[in-house]
Amino acid sequence: MATASSQPVYRATTTAPVNIAVIKYWGKRDTTLNLPTNSSLSVTLSQRSLRTLTTASASAKYPAEDTLNLNGKPQDIQSSKRTLACLSNLRALRKSLEDADASLPKLSTLPLRIVSENNFPTAAGLASSAAGFAALVRAIANLYQLPQSPRELSRIARQGSGSACRSLMGGYVAWRTGEQADGSDSLAEEVAPASHWPEMRALILVVSAEKKDVPSTEGMQTTVATSDLFATRAQTVVPERMDAIEVAIRDRDFPKFAEITMRDSNTFHATCLDSWPPIFYMNDVSRAAVRLVHDINRAVGRTVAAYTFDAGPNAVIYYEEKDSELVAGTVKAILGASASGWEGPFYEVLANVTVPGVSLDNIDSRVLDVLKGGVSRVILTGVGEGPVTVEDHLVTETGEIVTK
Ligand code: DP6
Repeated sequence: MATASSQPVYRATTTAPVNIAVIKYWGKRDTTLNLPTNSSLSVTLSQRSLRTLTTASASAKYPAEDTLNLNGKPQDIQSSKRTLACLSNLRALRKSLEDADASLPKLSTLPLRIVSENNFPTAAGLASSAAGFAALVRAIANLYQLPQSPRELSRIARQGSGSACRSLMGGYVAWRTGEQADGSDSLAEEVAPASHWPEMRALILVVSAEKKDVPSTEGMQTTVATSDLFATRAQTVVPERMDAIEVAIRDRDFPKFAEITMRDSNTFHATCLDSWPPIFYMNDVSRAAVRLVHDINRAVGRTVAAYTFDAGPNAVIYYEEKDSELVAGTVKAILGASASGWEGPFYEVLANVTVPGVSLDNIDSRVLDVLKGGVSRVILTGVGEGPVTVEDHLVTETGEIVTK
């Protein structure tokens, strides 16, 4: 029998991106399978700014239980039903490959050691579960050499976190509700690659929240159970918007894309306010960002910017590269030195901008004060690609966790 040190360590490493929805997923029709009440659509953000890096490894030399280490800390995956569901689905797919081909190493029987790192601070309050579960599923699928497409793997990532299914692809990604009770048709698919509309930019205004928000899983359950507006949103409003925004993306029609994005964020937050007890994710700083975008669009005379908010106060402002000075240049002039983080791969175009793209006389003065006091950090990014296989392993050849 082989000694522990001679047991091979199998490894695969991938990156996965963050995505920010423009048509929001909010509500589950099945909490175990994580099936949504409505379709959603997101923009995958560049991994040059935000990404999760995950190594999946398997070896007979590891202790019997699977482990996950995230940002240097061991996680309790045995009590995370969602993680266990992802692992057992992936193992079953590997097992069927092994059953069909006896020459394959029996990786499905080996314990897993998964190591994951985000390149952005968790404190920024950015949805990291989407990138995290997408990276976990992609890394294990690579380790197991599964032939399934990203669309097929999205069925598994969805069970980790709904929004994660959209991070398996780049560009503009839809998650279709599906109709089957077993969730087999509740899948993500690419609506358009990043190269179709590469000029899309996203400015993330990181707003410090005083206390923790209602977690999205819990918040959406309350909304489904108590909001009267909710059913209309899920059944009527979203299906129409899905069709319309796909046309806007196909035509690269920013004003249409922007109006649908802003209205959908507003409708989603309206159903939160209509929940009982009401749920508030946006705060005064978020509302100042809304006002700012409307003031910029009015001053310019066309829609050059669109805001959207997830289950927290951070604002994401979409705009096209050609309008960088008008949108990001104005935000830069307002925030000045009060927000950090302006450097980064998308910043060059703004580095030399010293005057606001839109005169600050056009912006409500209270909005300027609230933003200056409430935005702590800015991340300037844009549409990007899906997961990428890399050799930058977080587990050594002999199975140790790499400490950075
Ligand atoms: C507001 O995907 O975090 O960001 O499936 O319960 O893990 P779970 O929820 P999650 O919800 C995301 C909600 C949202 C909208 C969106 O990303 O579509």
